[in-house]
Amino acid sequence: MARLSIPDLNRMRAEKKKIVVMTAYDYSMAQLIDRAEVDMILVGDSGGRNLLGHEDNNSVTMDEMVLMTRSVSRGTKHALVIGDMPFMSYQVNKEEAIRNAGRLIQEGEAQSVKLEVGAEYAPTVEAIVKAGIPVMAHMGLTPQTTMGSGGYRSEGASIAEEKVWNDARALVAAGSYSLLLTRVPPDLAKRITEEVSVPTISGFGSGDDCSGNIGVTHGVIGFNVDQLDRPRAIYGPVAVPFYEAVRSFCADVRAGKPVRSRQNQ
Ligand code: KIV
Repeated sequence: MARLSIPDLNRMRAEKKKIVVMTAYDYSMAQLIDRAEVDMILVGDSGGRNLLGHEDNNSVTMDEMVLMTRSVSRGTKHALVIGDMPFMSYQVNKEEAIRNAGRLIQEGEAQSVKLEVGAEYAPTVEAIVKAGIPVMAHMGLTPQTTMGSGGYRSEGASIAEEKVWNDARALVAAGSYSLLLTRVPPDLAKRITEEVSVPTISGFGSGDDCSGNIGVTHGVIGFNVDQLDRPRAIYGPVAVPFYEAVRSFCADVRAGKPVRSRQNQ
């Protein structure tokens, strides 16, 4: 199966076939997700927390994003890979933004980049697109810009609907090939989807009327240690069989059972 392209995504949107996006940060998880026929894989800066153990997404560096993106790209044959531009990789000026976006394509081997932006960054998006790099614009309530106020999932977080509407139009006019809408009220996400000419992806409460949906894989499949005490993930939670498999291996080794034949490298 050939790798999914932006024209394929536009076709899916026109034919109302839902687009599935999931996150991955490393080679082996990307291989599994790709094999499951997910359409797009986002190497999100959430990898800072989920893979690298940072306190928050904003601590992730450009070098860390390049490394995670490259390992995902190498594990992926079918899905379109999106490299996330980390905090401060595109805010300083357009030249730095182009250079850093270029790193995710050239060194990270991604097919596109994602930026958390509003209309004020339309000139930056336009400059990156003019350099030949496809941009997904991430808007609504976004993790990087809500860190100081308790995070984009916090209760108090709210968005100005008119701003989101204007951002969507400006970012599509600047050349974004897709909009990722997080924490946008479902009615507004639906109106944006009907208005703009590119696929929209819904995340975290933005409803089911976008062209597709995104899931942060660790959360969707319950791949974190908290799931052992409070299994809440609807799909999986895979942390449980993972943990049990490791415990069984430990038990076999400690019981002196032959281990070599059990290994599958
Ligand atoms: O980094 C990430 O996983 C994201 C999601 C919140 C969409 O940007």
